Amino acid sequence: MSAILASLFGKETLIGLDIGSAYLKAVQVEAHRESFRVTRAAQQKMPVGAMRDGVILDRDAVAGAIRQMLKSASISATGAVLSVSGPTVVVRQITLPKMTEAALRKSARYEASKYITANIDDSAIAFDIIGPVEDDPNLMNVMLVAAPRDMVESRIDVVERTGLEAVAVDIEAFALQRSLVDCNRMRYNDGALRAFVDMGASHTEVTLVIGSQFGLTRSINIAGDTFTDAIKNQLRLDVAEAERRKTEVDLNVLLNPGSATDPQAGEAPRAIQSILDELLREVRRSINFYQSQQPEGADPKPLAEIILSGGNAQLGGLAPYMMARLGTEVRLADVFDSTAFEAAPEAEAWLREQAPRLGIAAGLAVKEHLATPVVLNTKL
Ligand SMILES: Nc1ncnc2c1ncn2[C@@H]1O[C@H](COP(=O)(O)OP(=O)(O)OP(=O)(O)O)[C@@H](O)[C@H]1O
Ligand SMILES: [Mg+2]
Repeated sequence: MSAILASLFGKETLIGLDIGSAYLKAVQVEAHRESFRVTRAAQQKMPVGAMRDGVILDRDAVAGAIRQMLKSASISATGAVLSVSGPTVVVRQITLPKMTEAALRKSARYEASKYITANIDDSAIAFDIIGPVEDDPNLMNVMLVAAPRDMVESRIDVVERTGLEAVAVDIEAFALQRSLVDCNRMRYNDGALRAFVDMGASHTEVTLVIGSQFGLTRSINIAGDTFTDAIKNQLRLDVAEAERRKTEVDLNVLLNPGSATDPQAGEAPRAIQSILDELLREVRRSINFYQSQQPEGADPKPLAEIILSGGNAQLGGLAPYMMARLGTEVRLADVFDSTAFEAAPEAEAWLREQAPRLGIAAGLAVKEHLATPVVLNTKL
């Protein structure tokens, strides 16, 4: 059914669409009383060089890739929920004098300008009033999000070129929290501090969550592309071969140097070790920063575990390596290991295998049902 016909009959069907710099990911769900049934999921390689710093440069090529992905997975939809992330996206919890939503809307650009280094006119911004500050009735907690206007606009435009309506633009960290935590509350009702680390191709996003409450999110410029580059440069390979070698990496050889039977097995792990250690130091720094921000007198909350997602979380031996380096539990995210999601039996194996990469798209797909009100558009 065409998008226009479907919307005429009020049958809006959405997909969660995660536009990454390396891969497009899409998830579609059907809401049932107790759970979401995953009816479709797909991924598709992004055209090379089509995105830079989260801004889509080659809009035709990306629109073509989205169309191709939807077609090959037989996904039909009228709209998509999108997201943004990365070092240029600002996500801050701030306190402001108590005011109405309307008053906040008026002063939004002024308030946001205090937290955004980019030109405020080049930014899309959104606010959400979280609630009153506990000890001061004159103040309120507000979530501020902002992203470069061209990042938001280029994504909306590309999606609209495919004939889908861009229904909302969310923040990746919120989408991930929605699918992993909000859809699995029982597991996260202990108030513990956890770090969700999404390792994509262009950046790694660290999101700290206390129980089921959002803490902070931060981007680090070390991720899959950095590892591929290190392998490419140190072993003098082309990109395709370096990518292939990366998928064969087993980081356990770094922990037990004597364990490798094949002398070549240590080459690629050694090539990425220093940059990986640098990334882990940055992850640790984000956690330390958050712990140091806790109210005076309170003991810093210990980190209970790290949950890995994104394509590079599939780096062989990454969880044990991080566990050894950071001294904390580390596991791979499995968004479908929750009673909130059920899959058709024939799709289950594929979904579970790809689960670390589908968390964001799944969180976008369920957004209309578990709405968090912060939505970025370019009009504010
Ligand atoms: N088995 C594997 N081992 C290591 N890395 C892998 C493996 N499979 C895929 N990758 C890497 O995963 C990355 C793609 O992951 P993902 O789809 O999460 O990225 P993305 O969302 O497109 O990137 P970003 O969010 O940073 O823009 C690529 O860098 C790719 O090399
Ligand atoms: Mg990504």
